[in-house]
Amino acid sequence: MAFNNILVEASAGITTVTVNRPDKLNALNTETICELNQCFTGLASDDETRVVVLRGAGEKAFVAGADINELAQMTAPEAELLSRGGQKLMNCIENLGKPVIAAVGGFALGGGCELAMACTFRYASATAKLGLPETGLGLIPGFGGTQRLSRLVGRGRALELVLTGNMISAEEACIMGLVNKVFTCDDLMDEVMKIAGVLASKSTLTLKIALQAVNNGLNMNQDSGCQLEAALFGVCGASDDAREGCAAFLGKRKPEFKDS
Ligand code: COA
Repeated sequence: MAFNNILVEASAGITTVTVNRPDKLNALNTETICELNQCFTGLASDDETRVVVLRGAGEKAFVAGADINELAQMTAPEAELLSRGGQKLMNCIENLGKPVIAAVGGFALGGGCELAMACTFRYASATAKLGLPETGLGLIPGFGGTQRLSRLVGRGRALELVLTGNMISAEEACIMGLVNKVFTCDDLMDEVMKIAGVLASKSTLTLKIALQAVNNGLNMNQDSGCQLEAALFGVCGASDDAREGCAAFLGKRKPEFKDS
């Protein structure tokens, strides 16, 4: 599929999606959001894709937010529609059923920070800067950021970032749990690809079920979450891949998962 604003490359079960508007710091205009929506919808059912890596083109930015040119003159229905389109993309990524790793190699601001938050893990370069600067534009985050940030870092820190609009360093983001780990700029992509490789070697069925247990469990109380976990453990426990994984351990060999 040909896109104008994103690049898609696949190798050894890992599909790398690059937001490719470096001259605009990879800002998300409507066309880019539509292309990402289309791309991720396709990846959900693409058996060749076991793991997705999401990055921004160029040295400077992951994604510097929604395209402010489009935000400048919106009616209320247009603004709501933009928000719903962005949220649809973030939900698609969060619920893809396979891991999506954000490689944050620079600015991840506004919609860019929200895009990273929808991913399964976030790894950042030491020089990356993250934040939700929307209040400085007279706006609030509209792609799920007000909801996902507090779930990741707690209400107090989320409110501090949303209300002040302050940018934070990768290290600060890591300390508060917004970023999983920080690497040097030179190492970021190699390290991300190593982690993606580990995930690609697992059973896609097992990872899908683990994602479901954690993501859906977060919207439940602990008792209901444990009920869900037991039901999903039941599905996993009887799978071919559970048989193979345990047999491989006992036979002191590497498992060969069949994703079933
Ligand atoms: N939307 C549209 N264009 C954007 C953009 C965005 N969110 N972020 C950056 N750009 C564009 C700039 O307008 C500039 O375009 P130009 O060369 O045609 O003038 C280009 O990208 C480079 O950005 P510039 O501001 O010159 O780089 P910088 O290094 O001086 O500053 C930032 C980098 C990230 C601090 C700054 O670009 C910025 O604050 N961007 C907006 C961040 C934001 O508020 N995002 C939330 C939107 S809801």
